[in-house]
Amino acid sequence: MSDVFLSQRLLGIKPSPSIAANALVNQLREEGRDIVNFTVGEPDLDTPLHILQAASDAMHAGETHYTGTSGTLALRQAIITKLARDNDLSYSVDEVVAGCGGKHIIYHALAATLNPGDEVIVHTPYWVSYPDIARLNDATPVIIPGDESQGFKLTPEALEHAIRPRTKWVILNSPNNPSGAVYDETELIALAEVLRRHPHVLVMSDEIYEHFVFDGARHLSILNLAPDLKPRTLIVNGASKGYAMTGWRLGFGAGPAFLVRAIANLISQTTTCPSSISQAAAVAAFAGNQQPIAEMREIYRQRRTRMLELLNEIPGISCTPPDGAFYAFVNVTGLLGKRTPEGPVVTTDSDLVAYLLNEAGVATVSGEAYGMSPYIRLSFASAHEVIEEGCRRFKEAAGRLR
Ligand SMILES: Cc1ncc(COP(=O)(O)O)c(C=O)c1O
Repeated sequence: MSDVFLSQRLLGIKPSPSIAANALVNQLREEGRDIVNFTVGEPDLDTPLHILQAASDAMHAGETHYTGTSGTLALRQAIITKLARDNDLSYSVDEVVAGCGGKHIIYHALAATLNPGDEVIVHTPYWVSYPDIARLNDATPVIIPGDESQGFKLTPEALEHAIRPRTKWVILNSPNNPSGAVYDETELIALAEVLRRHPHVLVMSDEIYEHFVFDGARHLSILNLAPDLKPRTLIVNGASKGYAMTGWRLGFGAGPAFLVRAIANLISQTTTCPSSISQAAAVAAFAGNQQPIAEMREIYRQRRTRMLELLNEIPGISCTPPDGAFYAFVNVTGLLGKRTPEGPVVTTDSDLVAYLLNEAGVATVSGEAYGMSPYIRLSFASAHEVIEEGCRRFKEAAGRLR
């Protein structure tokens, strides 16, 4: 009944499945259940001390007011420093805009550019929010199915096939959430060749996991290989993952001035600006000591190794080792069609997620949420004991399926 008050636009949208899975964990814990939580899409580590100090200093110095809608000049300069240092990319202050998280930038970039009937190309497995943000802005997500045998990566042939006259954006995400896929030089060159043939298409490059790459993988931006695409490419990044700053809500976009201006215009009518204190913290993050990133990367590397070892011991599943981000995207084909001790058959990855949660107290997210089944996502941004215990329970529960 209360739905009559809600917009048509909202009614087609699901709450973010990973956030919903995490909320369910919290609810079950409040009810007294002992849950191992692998759903979390954020670092469990603390924000480095020098960043906390910068925020505290800013508060005490009276930096507690609205800032310009693109972010403070100091922050935009720190973002430019970061892009030059980490990504070998050169931007000016009118080509960067800060927002309340990368998600905020993605939302505003799409809202600033999409018209009804426009299409946004996304490939599976995708970060859960891309298709819904496109829908919220009256566009149609065009979903390209991914394939594990291709390393879960978008191929140039599939991209070429999907681009149509109404295509407004292609969204690239490397390192990818949830698959961990990291695109190499050859793959990015091949995608750029396709994009070059379609000048009406904007390119979004979501690089939020750039700092977490493993086993010799290297993060590259498509603009490193195809600088000619810069006038129509928006890089999305932020402090959330790399600096363990999810709660500070600080992300940024770097792109052509017309687009950055449009995003800032929209921000002026939504949040005005990101928190001034988070902005001061992000200056220290982007332009200050980078050592904590290397330390965090090493911690995730060790956790990844351990989780993969433990997952390999579970019959019926397999996992392509993720080159980046902090998730294992596990193929669960071998567990489907089996019966739980209580009787029901596990038919889908969502059934398996429910079984693991209810019977073993292990929370995961279904591949269905990322547009690709039958998979489940497990975050290894969790302490070693959590990984050990969760995988032990997973193995035991998998062994009870007949
Ligand atoms: C692929 C990807 N992009 C963007 C974001 C947004 O991050 P934030 O809004 O915290 O900067 C996330 C968060 O989970 C993500 O996984």
